[in-house]
Amino acid sequence: MFTRRQLLTVASATPLIGAPAIVRAQSWFAGYPFALGVTSGDPAPDGFVIWTKLAPKPFEAHGGMPMVALPVAWEVASDDRFKTIVAKGEATARPELGHSVHVEVTGLQPDRPYWYRFTLGSDRSMRGRARTLPLASASPPRLKFGVAGCQNYEDGYFTAFRHLAKEDDLAFVYHYGDFIYEYKQRGPDYDKDGLPVDQVRHHVGQDCFDLADYRLRYAQYLSDYDLQAARAQHSWFPTFDDHEIQNNWVGDIDGRDQSPAEIFRLRRQAGLQAWYEYMPVRAAMLPRNGIITDMYREARFGDLLAVDFLDTRSFRSDQPCGDGFKPYCAAMDDAKAQILSPEEEGWLTRNLTRGKTQWNCLAQQVMMMSLDRRRYADEKEPIYNMDTWAAYRVPRDRLLAKMRGLDNVVVLTGDEHQNYAGLLESGDKPVAVEFVSTSISSGGDGSDLRAGSDMLLRDNSQLKFINDQRGYLVCDVTPDAWTTQFRVMDRVSSAGGSIATRASITVPHGQPSLIIA
Ligand SMILES: [Fe+2]
Repeated sequence: MFTRRQLLTVASATPLIGAPAIVRAQSWFAGYPFALGVTSGDPAPDGFVIWTKLAPKPFEAHGGMPMVALPVAWEVASDDRFKTIVAKGEATARPELGHSVHVEVTGLQPDRPYWYRFTLGSDRSMRGRARTLPLASASPPRLKFGVAGCQNYEDGYFTAFRHLAKEDDLAFVYHYGDFIYEYKQRGPDYDKDGLPVDQVRHHVGQDCFDLADYRLRYAQYLSDYDLQAARAQHSWFPTFDDHEIQNNWVGDIDGRDQSPAEIFRLRRQAGLQAWYEYMPVRAAMLPRNGIITDMYREARFGDLLAVDFLDTRSFRSDQPCGDGFKPYCAAMDDAKAQILSPEEEGWLTRNLTRGKTQWNCLAQQVMMMSLDRRRYADEKEPIYNMDTWAAYRVPRDRLLAKMRGLDNVVVLTGDEHQNYAGLLESGDKPVAVEFVSTSISSGGDGSDLRAGSDMLLRDNSQLKFINDQRGYLVCDVTPDAWTTQFRVMDRVSSAGGSIATRASITVPHGQPSLIIA
C-alpha cells in the first residue's frame, strides 16, 4: 500500500505531457480499479452523465481504495475506437462518495451514440456507449427504449440483462428500482416434494442498515458482468423503489414499523447515498438532509414523447390497513392520503397538460391499476395490495381524472415481479394504459401463468394480460402507435437462459385500448 504522498505525486504527474509513459508502466493498485464497470445516464440533447466507481477490491472495505481523493481522466468519442475524441477532462473520485465518479458531459450533438471510457494511472476502464436525446424541437419518427428492474441476486442469474444489452437501437433504459435487495442470505426454499433447495446465489453481508452494508451489496450485484454489460451498452434513467432501502418503506416510516422515524431516516440516508454513488445520475440527485428531493424528473424526446419519472416512495403517506394484501378498510378512502408530494403532483399535472408531445408516459414504481387480488376460491371479499395506488383511492382518482381527454397516456410500472397489461379508468371510461414489467430475476424462473391468474383475469375486466416469467419490456413508439414487447426468459435459475417475445401489445394513439398480438 502506498502513502498519501506517493499517491499525490503519481496523481499530479498523470495529466502532464510526457509523464504518462512512465506513470503508465505500473498500476497503482493490486486489483483492477474499474472492476464495477461503467455506465451512463440521465441523457439530454447535449450530453449525459458518465459514471464509474473505483474499487480494485470490491468486497473489501472502501472497495480496497486508499482514503484520498484521486483524479480520474475521462474521454468521450464519436466512434467506438476512440479515434475522434469530442470531450475529455478529469474528475475527482472522493472517499466521501466511495470513489464514485459522476461526470455531467455537455456540448455534444443531439440524438446520436457516443462512447466513453475512464483512465487512472495505467488502468483503463471498459468502453461504454451512451446516447444523447433528440432536440425538443425535433420530430423523431420512432423511439425504442427498454424497461427493467427488480433483480434479486439470490433468486436468479442476470442473463436477461445480457439480452437487454444486445437489444438494438434503444434510446435509453428506464429502471423502476429494486436494483438491490437489502436482505442477508435467505434460508432455503422448498421444491415441489417439500424438500429444501438452495438459493441460486447468495448475498454477502448482513441485512443492510449502514452505508458500508449498502455499498457492499451494490458491489456484489455489479460484480455480475451481465448487469455490467447492460449498464455499459445503454443510457439509463434510474429511479429507486423500496428495496434500495427496505421492503415497503414510505416517507420516513420503517416498512416493518420497528424503528421510530428519526432513526429510520438514518437508514434511509445511508441507502440513498449508496444509490446515488452507484447510479449515473446528476448532482441534483445527491441526497441532501437525508432525502433526495429531485428524483422525480422529466425527459423529452422531441414532439414524440414526454416521460415523467415519478418518486412514489419518498413523500407517500403510510400504507393503509396495516399494509400487505388485505380486504377493503376505510383508510383506503383517506382524503389526506398521498403517494406524490403536493409539489410532485402539481409538477405532474402541469406536465400532463402541456400538450406538446404525441405521448405522455408516467414511469413509476407501484401498480396504478386497482386489482382484486383474490387467487383462491375461499377468499370471499376483494383483496387489495396496500402498497399500490389501489389503496390510495383519493389521490389515485384525482390523478386519473386529470388524464381524461388526453388519450395519450401510458403508465410504466415495476414492483410486481409479473407482467401485466390493462386499462386505467376514470369513472368507467378508459383514460390510459398501464404496462407492468416483470423482474430481471426476483421470484425465480416462474412459468407462463401463476396459480390463480384465471381468477385475476375473471375478476378484473380492465386487466387484459398476465405472465409470470422473468425479463424486461421493449417499448417501440411512433406518432401513431405504442407497442410494448414483453420479453421473457425461459429460465434464470441457471446460466445461459434464452429470451423470447411472449406478447406484443399495441396502443393506438388517441384511443386508450390494447391490441394483443
Ligand atoms: Fe422487487
